[in-house]
Amino acid sequence: MRILAPLILLLAGACSMPDGGPNSELPPIISPILTTDDAKDPFTYARPEVARVTHVALDLTLDFEGKSVGGTATLDVAAEPGEDTVILDSDGLDITSVTDNAGAALPFAVGAVKEGKGAPVTITMNGQRKLIVTYSAKNAEALQWLEPEQTAGRKHPYLLSQGQPILNRTWIPTQDSPGIRQTWEARITAPEPLRVVMSGLSAGDPVAAGKARRTFTFAMDKPVAPYLIAIAAGDIAFRELGPRTGVWSEPSMLDAAAAELADTEKMVDAAEALYGPYRWGRYDMIVLPPSFPYGGMENPVMTFLTPTFIAGDRSLTGLVAHELAHSWSGNLVTNANWADSWLNEGLTSYFENRIIEKLYGTKRAGQEAALGFASMEEALAQNGMDAPITTLHLTAAEATPDGGATGIIYDKGAVFMRTIETIAGREKFDKYLTSWFQRHAFQPATSAMFLADIRKHLVKGDAELEASLMLDQWVYQPGLPSNVIRPDPAAFADVDAAAAAYRVDAVVDRGAYLSWTTAERMRFLAKLPRALDAENLAALDKGLGLSKSGNNEILFAWLELALQNRYDPAVPVAQRFLGTVGRRKFVAPLFLALMRQGDWGQPIARRIYAKTRPTYHAVTQSRVDAIMLEEG
Ligand code: BES
Ligand code: ZN
Repeated sequence: MRILAPLILLLAGACSMPDGGPNSELPPIISPILTTDDAKDPFTYARPEVARVTHVALDLTLDFEGKSVGGTATLDVAAEPGEDTVILDSDGLDITSVTDNAGAALPFAVGAVKEGKGAPVTITMNGQRKLIVTYSAKNAEALQWLEPEQTAGRKHPYLLSQGQPILNRTWIPTQDSPGIRQTWEARITAPEPLRVVMSGLSAGDPVAAGKARRTFTFAMDKPVAPYLIAIAAGDIAFRELGPRTGVWSEPSMLDAAAAELADTEKMVDAAEALYGPYRWGRYDMIVLPPSFPYGGMENPVMTFLTPTFIAGDRSLTGLVAHELAHSWSGNLVTNANWADSWLNEGLTSYFENRIIEKLYGTKRAGQEAALGFASMEEALAQNGMDAPITTLHLTAAEATPDGGATGIIYDKGAVFMRTIETIAGREKFDKYLTSWFQRHAFQPATSAMFLADIRKHLVKGDAELEASLMLDQWVYQPGLPSNVIRPDPAAFADVDAAAAAYRVDAVVDRGAYLSWTTAERMRFLAKLPRALDAENLAALDKGLGLSKSGNNEILFAWLELALQNRYDPAVPVAQRFLGTVGRRKFVAPLFLALMRQGDWGQPIARRIYAKTRPTYHAVTQSRVDAIMLEEG
């Protein structure tokens, strides 16, 4: 580990800035660059150990007609003495000039583009440490420009971004690696009446910018990994939820969004009670139009959410607990590279469940944990218990930036944490995790660092405990270690009995189903026979009201099952769903189900996708493109 001397000086300034929230401490903002092999990020061209960006100041104008952003990025660089070259990441940026702070041109060169990684931008600094990059980004993959028809209001366009894992280099010229933290600020000019939000605190009211435009300003004074810079713009309004929480959405969605998110302030309190102070000041959320490609994204101070989690009964708010938990595991302590995504997602999935337990009790938490365990087992069985993709720390061959795609790092990571909790004891483990976040706040981390830290601060030389935890096996070996703590089999006793009975008599017990929780209903649908005929499917749909469900997890599970069985009456419902929802987790499996049904499903899939593809974010498009190609 080494810390660049100029960086310490630069960041000393940041420490004196006013701090955001009631419970935040002064951030100890010195973020080291890790230089061990396991910390090295193969998906950046940057060489942060010799020259790194420490602060990004954006001044951009949004052009909805041209679907482009353009303006300047002013970068502060900390470099080794005598080092005169800094390398940025770019994927498709159109850079017109680089100058120093006085406006003198600086030489720069854009290297060859590598698919999925982009190109290096090598700048000669001529001894300067503040660089102004003038550029534009058209059709940037991170950004989705929505037509008015794709919004609830249908009157105004909308812009949303998704940076994780390596898409922010398509609209921001910086060093785009999770191990390189930067503070940032932004001025964003947008047409009226649109409002802009970002993953930083608002730095004042919008000001008129001429031509019916306004400029919004933001600041993030804590160093964050650049994948966490995010923007959304649209006809949006704000509703306060609690002293430090609130929600943005289109006006017509605001009541429903606020009602579904009414427990958020309590979630922040619960999270703090578990693992220490919330360090970011405010916790706001934006409920986006349904084309958002993920369920949620943990953009600091402004979690981005799909509207598909709104079920009317807060049954899918585990998503919110999850994104909130990333304020510790992910945003405060960040995987140094994408091979250790489990440090972000696995810890967060465990943390999510602990928040759910605090708010809603052990029954719901136990059931949600059991669902996670079952999906882990299914993924392990599907990939094979010795498949390299089933390790938590991904080997170089498996470590694509999107390595979390199988879900294994989420669920196996959470089960690992639960196993340590059970073996070491909850009180001891909670204390330990709190101290981990404290010790590594605003810093990158690797698996090796986490294990060394557990050994030093939790195991403390206790040989028996060391042997019983099987730490290395959990992190570096495929499959499931023998000390795994399984969920309580009683969690779904009734539901599993009902599903077993259904296999015998194919009778749907409507009354029982309606008495169940959402998790129980999902369990039941997952336990149904995978092959069902049209008559049975019709009875299920009619009896349980599946295709009319207002719960998108239920609706999705039903549609997948129905399409896998070539059930014609489900096609119009699926078509409507795929025509509005762009969430990859729902969209990709439905197209996969159709494509795997040969002459029946493939024409349907192609017909629907021809219409819906332009309505999806690039993240969803590229996954479905691959499915159409591989399965076609
Ligand atoms: N950080 C992830 C989303 C992500 C992961 C984007 C990897 C790009 C690459 C986010 O926190 C997440 O995990 N979202 C989940 C929801 C969660 C409840 C499992 C999702 O979107 O489904
Ligand atoms: Zn996550």
